[in-house]
Amino acid sequence: MKFDIPENIASIVPYPPGKPLEELEREYGISDSIKLASNENSWGPSPKAVAAIGQSLQGLHRYPDGSSFFLTEALAGRLGAGMDEIVLGNGSNEVIEFLVKAFVRTGDEVISSHPSFLMYQKFVQVRGGCNRVIPLKDMRHDLAAITDTVNDKTRLIFLDNPNNPCGTFFSAQELDKFLKGLPESVIVVLDEAYVDFVEAEERIDILSYIRQSEGIPAVVALRTFSKAFGLAGLRVGFGLMHREIANLLHRVRQPFNINLPAQAGALAALSDDAHYNATINKTRSGRLWLQEKVKKIGCIPYPSKTNFFLIDVRGDATTLYESMLHKGVIVRSMAAYGYPNFIRITVGTKSENERFVTALIESLSELNYV
Ligand SMILES: Cc1ncc(COP(=O)(O)O)c(C=O)c1O
Repeated sequence: MKFDIPENIASIVPYPPGKPLEELEREYGISDSIKLASNENSWGPSPKAVAAIGQSLQGLHRYPDGSSFFLTEALAGRLGAGMDEIVLGNGSNEVIEFLVKAFVRTGDEVISSHPSFLMYQKFVQVRGGCNRVIPLKDMRHDLAAITDTVNDKTRLIFLDNPNNPCGTFFSAQELDKFLKGLPESVIVVLDEAYVDFVEAEERIDILSYIRQSEGIPAVVALRTFSKAFGLAGLRVGFGLMHREIANLLHRVRQPFNINLPAQAGALAALSDDAHYNATINKTRSGRLWLQEKVKKIGCIPYPSKTNFFLIDVRGDATTLYESMLHKGVIVRSMAAYGYPNFIRITVGTKSENERFVTALIESLSELNYV
């Protein structure tokens, strides 16, 4: 073999895949472990979604509807958007990829923050674009520094709002000020993967920005079924955007990117408000309960608008992560994100949260952290 590897591909660090739970359990000699590391939804999918997925399986010999008509129609109705303002993806990840494919040429620049969701930078690298990465300031997007970084090569700005991993959020007022300082040639992408967990009155009215096509840059919002809807394994996300941008993204997507069970499951999940609302309420109360406990133990929990939050464990986070892993509790060390004393924990069910607290107390005491 003597193939030539493009430099931009050779330099990509693969997304850390994580091992299957069964494999981790085998390696560490543990059983019955709980995973609070990936900001998933411990309450699972709506039973209506599961039933609809089951029924859809009878039709697997046919290609799915390439326009995802019924799912798009239901989303449009729920959000007050036009069907032509919505683009569905195989997870919101895929919509990030569409945006980069459609707008970034070799050498073009894309701005994102560090730490934030890793995939923005990876897609840009694949495309041969140039990542301009701005550190968070006080765990928030540094909108002033981002504005200063924009130049005539800037195509896209990715801002996860709330931010992963810090859980911080910027308001519509901050967004207004930010947009006014930018050239109209850039596209601002607000990744709202966790927005369902933010109080309704604090959320940004995305459609009002999307439809304002004069005087400010275009705004695109990304949403997902992976978090509040508990369908991470199904892979459905979507973007809300001006219809001209949607039209371009449809040109770069595969015709059947949303598979048949995914269309059926996501559509049914939208009809189960009781399950969705219960998930949001249990997440909020679980987060408050956990933060209170963590504070009492002597660690420092950070505020968050999401289904996860950061904890300063006052010692090396990776050692603590290993110690908790041996007790069957999987959290995320933030060392690789630049916070060596922090872990990130996803809010789980009541029993998972209790198990986390017990393991944390034991590990902290074994390691003499607090
Ligand atoms: C900020 C952010 N955006 C996007 C995603 C990806 O979501 P999806 O499962 O819809 O691809 C994640 C997943 O963790 C995330 O944290």
